[in-house]
Amino acid sequence: MAGRIPQSFIDEVVARSDIVEIVGARVPLKKSGREYKACCPFHSEKTPSFWVSPDKQFYHCFGCGAHGTVIGFLMAYEKLEFPDAILELAQRAGLAVPREAQTAGAADGGTDLYGTLERACRFFEQNLRDDVRGLEYLRRRGIDAPTAAAFALGLAPDSWAALLNRFGAQADDRRALLQAGLIIERDTRGGQSQTGFYDRFRDRLMFPIRDSRGRVIAFGGRVIGEGEPKYLNSPETNLFHKGRELYGLYEARRAHADFKRLMVVEGYMDVVRLHQAGITYAVATLGTATTQEHLNKIFRLTSEVVFCFDGDRAGRQAAWRALENALPLARDGRELKFLFLPEGHDPDSLVGEEGAAAFEQRLKTCLPLSEYLLEQLLPQVDLEHVDGRAKLAALARPLFARMPEGVYRELLADRLAAQIRMPAPKLKELLMGASASGGSGRATEPGAGGRSPISAGRSLMTAGRSSMAAGRGNLLRQAITLVLHHPSAARAVQNTDSLAAVDKPGVGVLRELLLQAAAVEQPNTALLLERWRDRPEFARLAELAATEPLVASPAAAAGELQMAVQKLLEEHGPRRRMDELLRKAEDMGLNYDEKAELSLLLKSKSRPSPPS
Ligand code: UTP
Ligand code: MN
Repeated sequence: MAGRIPQSFIDEVVARSDIVEIVGARVPLKKSGREYKACCPFHSEKTPSFWVSPDKQFYHCFGCGAHGTVIGFLMAYEKLEFPDAILELAQRAGLAVPREAQTAGAADGGTDLYGTLERACRFFEQNLRDDVRGLEYLRRRGIDAPTAAAFALGLAPDSWAALLNRFGAQADDRRALLQAGLIIERDTRGGQSQTGFYDRFRDRLMFPIRDSRGRVIAFGGRVIGEGEPKYLNSPETNLFHKGRELYGLYEARRAHADFKRLMVVEGYMDVVRLHQAGITYAVATLGTATTQEHLNKIFRLTSEVVFCFDGDRAGRQAAWRALENALPLARDGRELKFLFLPEGHDPDSLVGEEGAAAFEQRLKTCLPLSEYLLEQLLPQVDLEHVDGRAKLAALARPLFARMPEGVYRELLADRLAAQIRMPAPKLKELLMGASASGGSGRATEPGAGGRSPISAGRSLMTAGRSSMAAGRGNLLRQAITLVLHHPSAARAVQNTDSLAAVDKPGVGVLRELLLQAAAVEQPNTALLLERWRDRPEFARLAELAATEPLVASPAAAAGELQMAVQKLLEEHGPRRRMDELLRKAEDMGLNYDEKAELSLLLKSKSRPSPPS
């Protein structure tokens, strides 16, 4: 598969697809007001809390929190990767998928990187079959021939140029090897007349890393003899992004039609040995912490993930980092668990020693995320004292802030409250501020009220919980939520550009959203959201898109939005800064920089215009 799909084409696919049709073909939908509802396909339930909005082109489950666009739905429901979801929708709409010029598989000039990596992989494999030392090493590590073959393990020869000589005869070939990360360009500043390249992997046991379709995209190599580093990975290339790939996932998917769970371990060897023992749902990160991209990949395949770590200090640290990265994805219907192994063991050594059955017994001792979190927090505080409890709340607060609103977070807060013997509402107020009370009630609204929560309009200015007065953070969040819910309102905002002068985290996001929405003829939530899929803000924006709309009508939204922008400018914008500088000039005078800034502000007079 080649290159990036242009944004304009993604726009077109979203614009031409109807989420009601796509979801309706897979889940029986019932019309209810302007929306459609069904029992959620992503968790089991008896009364429908899964809603599809044709206006927003967005789905949302109030039970488990699942939400997304038509593309997201296909990815989640059909377990498709993004390009394949696009392909599916494009085919339905009778469109051919174009690719941008800088393609991944065929790098500039049409170099076939996949082919290059595949040939290298077979070369390493053959070399292992012919090498006594390599085979002896495998035997010592307890890896049998069928397993080695299933993972296409190989051996990089003990040579500086074996691969280069075999596949790098032409300049084009060498460029391909270089782009694939298989050879390294020699530093020739010293003026040696040697050839310009050498093999990256030498005398190493080779683990090919494959993408979801089984194509080799990179390698990990372990030293056989002495040497540093113990493991060497391919560099980042057009095809390989470390933070995205999971070693063993392709092999795991080959072994399973459906997963009950996936287990994340730390090493290549761990994966290989576990699979050999029959634990074929193990995958590994590639020497990095578990990222949200990893987890998104995992949660497309299963709702249960077990992080398996060594019992030593490094393992505990890695586990905590995994927890922090996993919090934003912790929501109802998902299970995140932690398994700690006895000190001095990793999955490889343990499964070799005690066998698969005993190892799997250990899964019963997994700590759910909530338990692990409490286990880590509680020893840090003295609960007998008031300040101990306050400290606990302070420790927990940033963690809760990372979690999506919803049942899962509420339950965790309840558990924490019980532990420290504090009334739950009081603790929630400490942890999450005023918004806490909204979360749990919401899940029951659709079933109970019968009225669609998506169209349940409440004015931004009058609703108690979402009042503008609630605080600055809320103001920005509400403005962003308004654009997401009513992108067509963005055109009514007159001073989007002035937001560029507001120095406050998140305002840039608002401004970009406003510009994006205003640039499209008939924008909808999905169209807007899909522009952020590859960016760190995506998950948070999708969550906001899934919240209850603050107002129902686009006209009202336009008014509210204009007012919110106005207020942001007043509170943080250029005029505010100007006033500040003027006051300071009177009080104590300005330094050189401040004078320059003020004169610039006075010149531009970029005063926000009043709401229309
Ligand atoms: P470990 O050092 O725990 O090795 O690295 P291991 O998996 O137990 O390997 P064996 O049993 O000694 O062969 C765990 C993972 O961390 C990454 C690799 O992905 C490795 O599988 N790593 C480790 C590196 O990338 N570079 C290194 O030098 C070491
Ligand atoms: Mn090991």
